[in-house]
Amino acid sequence: MNQPPVGVAVVSGAGSGIGREIALALARRGRCLALVGRRAEPLSRVLAESGARGLVLDQDVRDAGGLAAAAIRVESELGPVEEVVPAAGIASVAPFLATPAADFEAALATNLTGVANLARAFLPAMLERRRGVLVALLSVASRRAFPGWSAYCSSKFGLLGLVEVLREELAGTGVRVVAVTPGATASPLWNGLPGQWDRTRMIPPAEVARAVLWALDADPSVAVEEIRLRPPGGDL
Ligand SMILES: NC(=O)c1ccc[n+]([C@@H]2O[C@H](COP(=O)([O-])OP(=O)(O)OC[C@H]3O[C@@H](n4cnc5c(N)ncnc54)[C@H](OP(=O)(O)O)[C@@H]3O)[C@@H](O)[C@H]2O)c1
Repeated sequence: MNQPPVGVAVVSGAGSGIGREIALALARRGRCLALVGRRAEPLSRVLAESGARGLVLDQDVRDAGGLAAAAIRVESELGPVEEVVPAAGIASVAPFLATPAADFEAALATNLTGVANLARAFLPAMLERRRGVLVALLSVASRRAFPGWSAYCSSKFGLLGLVEVLREELAGTGVRVVAVTPGATASPLWNGLPGQWDRTRMIPPAEVARAVLWALDADPSVAVEEIRLRPPGGDL
């Protein structure tokens, strides 16, 4: 007898931090993985660690055309995509006037347009099947202003808008849009950022993955819109 396909989870930024934990958690649930990031090597390590069947896509999320081609490849080589988790992201810290224009643009292109590019590539097939979930990684910086974080806050405030519009547009289609909104999380994102950052006060990335799984497990009779996670000692 033919087994039904196990379903595929697409995770960008899966080579490290939060994306890595989400990919490993989804693999433990039996998903095939399509892992997206600029560098193949960390993605290959995560895929091997997961033990899952899957694909490594060394693909920049700023490249819309590359993602469209990747989506066709994923559906044909792995099967139907059930979850898309755009977790690729970058941060830079400097006062606005000291932020190079290129850094500002890179944050918007990666953290905001990169999510739109993934959604544009993978949502059509999910909508055709009338099933699937887009899980976006918002941030405490989607609503709160932090001095020195103009590029990051601009990208994440913008992403909040995109996610909320998508949720309204997709209501009733069978495709869900969930936002997970962490405060400071102990990932490599903080490496090299100017300032003192106490990682012992931050959320463990595995807890963000746990929140994602909780949202995915929700009964179809309820729409989980957003889960907010904060460090218990307050924002950093
Ligand atoms: N850490 C926090 O405190 C925190 C809090 C709230 C929300 N978030 C959000 O959570 C998400 C994951 O962040 P993280 O903390 O896990 O950061 P991370 O450990 O630095 O991981 C980010 C990943 O994104 C990938 N990436 C960066 N630019 C990319 C691009 N243009 N195309 C494809 N992949 C790209 C990187 O891999 P390559 O370099 O190989 O491309 C890296 O694996 C981000 O959206 C972040 O904004 C983080």
